[in-house]
Amino acid sequence: MPSMKRDKLLVANNLSVAYRQKKGTVISIGPVSFSISASDRLALLGPSGIGKTTIALALMGLLSDSADWKGEIIFKGRRLASEADFSAVRGRGIGIVFQQPHSYLNPIMKIGRQLDDVLRFGFPELSKDERKGLIQDYLAYVGLDKDVANKYPFELSGGMAQRAAIAQALLLRPEVLIADEITSSLDMSLRRSILDLIMELQNSFGFGLLFISHDISAVDYIKARKVVLSGKGA
Ligand SMILES: Nc1ncnc2c1ncn2[C@@H]1O[C@H](COP(=O)(O)OP(=O)(O)OP(=O)(O)O)[C@@H](O)[C@H]1O
Ligand SMILES: [Mg+2]
Repeated sequence: MPSMKRDKLLVANNLSVAYRQKKGTVISIGPVSFSISASDRLALLGPSGIGKTTIALALMGLLSDSADWKGEIIFKGRRLASEADFSAVRGRGIGIVFQQPHSYLNPIMKIGRQLDDVLRFGFPELSKDERKGLIQDYLAYVGLDKDVANKYPFELSGGMAQRAAIAQALLLRPEVLIADEITSSLDMSLRRSILDLIMELQNSFGFGLLFISHDISAVDYIKARKVVLSGKGA
């Protein structure tokens, strides 16, 4: 019988970050505390510049050298501290999708090749044909035609690129998915379709979702629990 504690996939306890600036001043983010279980939907809310992306980067162990973090990050009961801890969890335990898909899809590599690289990294035991089959499956899961594999990112619209980026994150079967403002760069008309997709994927894959947004209507639409990041502590 799983206890409440075991059910928690990702826990942040009093997580705060300080960016050291050259002039000697410090930008302080947080603290914030929350926990996410499988199939859970938690929204991290707060105004622009308050530090939502910083918290996401801290959870992934991707903060810049000028940043120090404090508090606890616990994944499946294990406290993450060293780079080795984070790299063991990054991508596979916790996946991430950012706001601007075109800024982190490689512009000179076809989508299929980028997805194949992820699979080769995550599942070296798979054959080329198995990887090809999986890439077609995942493109279909995110509502893309299989010929998208042969396209470069610049050939895709913003909505299609965001779908490809979601496929890329899901390929490693993360147990928690961080979605950082994934609809903010899209036209209003496309936003709802991406939110519908994320909910549908969560139903089939069962990942816990940390949905980062300053758009309260998006958060209400996906019926997420809310935690607010404020400047003076939550
Ligand atoms: N690498 C960095 N070095 C120094 N300061 C940084 C760095 N990254 C972000 N900051 C600062 O930290 C604060 C929080 O930035 P962050 O991008 O985390 O906010 P955000 O809530 O995600 O904003 P948005 O809603 O616009 O995405 C800002 O003042 C930003 O200028
Ligand atoms: Mg941000």
